[in-house]
Parts: sequence; structure tokens; C-alpha cells
Amino acid sequence: MGGYERRTDQRSGVGGLDCPSGRVPRPGHPGGQGVGGRGSGVGYPSRVPFSADPLWRDRTYLREEQYRSDVNLRGRQSIYEFRTPRLDLARTALDLAFLDRAGLAGDERVVDVGCGNGRYIAALAARGHAGDVVALDLSAGMLQGLEPPRGGGSGTVHRCVADAAALGLRTACAGVTIAAHMLYHVADPRAAVRELRRVTQPAGRVVVVLNHHRHLAELRALFAEAAGDSPDDWGSPESVTLDDGAGLLGEVFSTVERTDLPGQLRVSDPAVLVRYGMSVPHRSGATSEHPGFAATVERIASERIRRDGAFVVTAHPGVLICR
Ligand SMILES: C[S@@+](CC[C@H](N)C(=O)[O-])C[C@H]1O[C@@H](n2cnc3c(N)ncnc32)[C@H](O)[C@@H]1O
Repeated sequence: MGGYERRTDQRSGVGGLDCPSGRVPRPGHPGGQGVGGRGSGVGYPSRVPFSADPLWRDRTYLREEQYRSDVNLRGRQSIYEFRTPRLDLARTALDLAFLDRAGLAGDERVVDVGCGNGRYIAALAARGHAGDVVALDLSAGMLQGLEPPRGGGSGTVHRCVADAAALGLRTACAGVTIAAHMLYHVADPRAAVRELRRVTQPAGRVVVVLNHHRHLAELRALFAEAAGDSPDDWGSPESVTLDDGAGLLGEVFSTVERTDLPGQLRVSDPAVLVRYGMSVPHRSGATSEHPGFAATVERIASERIRRDGAFVVTAHPGVLICR
């Protein structure tokens, strides 16, 4: 774990499983269903206030467009193949969760809230986790595309369509609850944090993954330039950053241990940048409808790659282990 920045906040300040009835999708049955922050201390400019994109918290947009399937998510995930130093974020987050095994036996039920296309479920299987997994997401389409995990995991994966702010699961049904890269999609993140606490056993862990506000800043500047917009229009769309999340979680959990995982993406393929730009919404309309957007991203990115050898982007996620 060397090289990470870890710190702990101590602040004063969850039986069975019930997926909301009739909401578990069956294969082939569609729809089966501004918080205060602290500086990171890593030498970035101070945070420029931004108004997070409301579309990024619009349940209908998220369920029916952005995450109707994993196409957009997969496109964005491919950019992390250019990360240096290399990082398997899901594996690292789980390593941190299970680092101090006190209260964990390795066979507990894991609830993955906003599981997407199952990166964390695959990482659990690769660890040989023996407990059942609840793969929970707002989008039934996302769950239908979920591949059964390969590896040594021996538990069953239950799919469940639900909202993070009202999980519909029994209190204390999980030993470990994961909410990775999703709290910024929830209209009421405080309600979601309360739900994470409620469904997790008192001796369990909640694993939250979020981004620093400088994460992908150069990418957003590229998209702003290509769209002919002010960079302010392409501020982070995320309403909850790593700093915000640490503060929010500290309101509910007695211990929040933060691990920053800063790095760089050195992207040498302009097509990856174009794909990313086309997968995110633009405030003045869908990116894909913006005339010349893709061609301009490609041109600017190609010039930069020719000049510098790579288009360099700040990548700064972090893991919050809460108890
Ligand atoms: C950025 S993806 C992250 C996926 C996965 N956790 C990962 O880190 O690879 C966000 C996921 O959260 C889901 N989501 C968004 N809002 C949600 C909500 N209110 N409740 C549950 N899931 C939600 C989306 O459908 C999407 O699958």
C-alpha cells in the first residue's frame, strides 16, 4: 500500500435481505423490475466553486439514457488503461476495506450500491470472497448486462433495482457495503449515506469511492475548448467530491479513513478522448448534437499528442473506509 496518502478522521457523531419486491430484473425482461470540504494537501490550486450538472443527478436521465446500458460507462472506463502509475481501483478499494479484518470473516454479504457493470463484484470474486453479493443499481438495463463474475467467489449474486436513497433492504443485512463513484448521482446524498449506514452491520465497513475536484480537469478544459464554451461550463459535473464525501460520511460514521490515489492519464489515442467526450452530457444539449465537437476534440488532442507524446490528464480518485 506504499505511496498512498492515508489519513483517518475520528468523529463523534445496520439479518436478512429484502430486495424491493418485484424489482429484481429477470434475464430478457426489461425493467424487471454543497457540503463543506477540506483541501487535499496535494498541491493543487484551491477549489473553484462549480455548479454540478443537474443532469448528473436526474434519475430519469441516468436510468433511461446515460446508464440504460453500460456503453457510456465502458467507454469512460477505457481511459484508465492509460493511467500511470497503473491502478486497479476496485481491487485497491477492497484491499483497504479488508486490510484490518476485525469484525470481518471474508464470507459476509456485500451490497454494491450503484454497481454499474460489476467491476467491484469481479474484484470480490477475484479475491475469492465467499459471501453473497447484492448487485444493486438504479438502472435495470445496467443489471441485465452484468456478467456473472469469474474467479474464486463462491457466493450468489442477487440483482436488485433500487435507489441509493431508499435501498429497500433490511437493516444490518450487509457486512460490507460499497458505493463507488455513485454518490454524486444521488439527489439527496445525505439520505444515501444514512442508508449505507443502516444496511451495514455495526461492525461492518462501508467503502465509498469518489473523485477529487481536480480529477480530469484537463479533459474538461479540452471539451470546453472543443465546444467553444467557457471552461466554467465544463466544471466537474459531480456534486459530491472526495473532500465533500469525507465530510458527509463523517456526519454519520465514527471513523472515516481516507486514501488518496493520485496519478496521471497519459493518453496516446485521441479516439479514447473523443469517446469520453461523447459519453457525457453538455449543459447546452447532448454532446453528440454539438456540431463538430468530436472532430475538434480529435484535432486538438492529436496536436497535443504529437507535441508532448501524450495528452496528460490528472486522475485523482480516493477511497473512504467508514465504520
Ligand atoms: C459511474 S457508475 C459507477 C459504477 C460502479 N460502481 C463502478 O465504480 O464501476 C454509476 C452507477 O450508479 C448508478 N446509479 C446512479 N444513481 C443511482 C441511485 N440513485 N441509486 C442507485 N444507483 C444509482 C448508475 O446507474 C451507474 O450504474
